[in-house]
Amino acid sequence: MKMVRLGLWIVVIVAAGLLAGRLYLADNDTSLAGRTGGPGGPFTLTAHTGEKISDTDFLGQYMLVYFGYSFCPDVCPLDLQKLSVALYSLEKQGYDTTPIQPLFISIDPERDTVEELAGFLPDFHPRMLGLTGTLEEITAVARNYKVYFAKREQPGTTDYLMDHQAVIFVMGPDGNYVRLFSSRDKPDDIAQSLASVLEKAK
Ligand code: NI
Repeated sequence: MKMVRLGLWIVVIVAAGLLAGRLYLADNDTSLAGRTGGPGGPFTLTAHTGEKISDTDFLGQYMLVYFGYSFCPDVCPLDLQKLSVALYSLEKQGYDTTPIQPLFISIDPERDTVEELAGFLPDFHPRMLGLTGTLEEITAVARNYKVYFAKREQPGTTDYLMDHQAVIFVMGPDGNYVRLFSSRDKPDDIAQSLASVLEKAK
């Protein structure tokens, strides 16, 4: 168990290093995706509701973009729960959270079919949209967001895990990158940060 944890930390540290390197590159190469050179870019994927969804559907709103997969044994469900708790907390404080659209983009489209996502999403905030697509489509979106993911086979079984970065991107009403929340951010931190862009509902 300890070795597994150590292994996970190594993956996280290496992934963070790769991300930092890519973000550094992005700052120096405006030809990379994202209108300001940061993470982000256009996508059209299929939602767990069966609808085709594009990034442009959310212009004028804040998108919270999280890449993960429904078979994830721990990190993804915890992060989605954290995000849901933040939104519920804002609503309890009287905020209208409709200007915020949470999105869960699967990096495991092989298993995350529309039906699979439809069964997974109801555990979280009701406005959370699960998105999937072909591996090519998902790879393109992840590349634009500079998110690393890779399949990790489980020796001796047909089972596999997905290594992936677990951050929540905040994209502004113009579609541009605003900031990200990492695993260090607690629901209260997220709620507090998002409150500044929300109006108190009447
Ligand atoms: Ni995960």
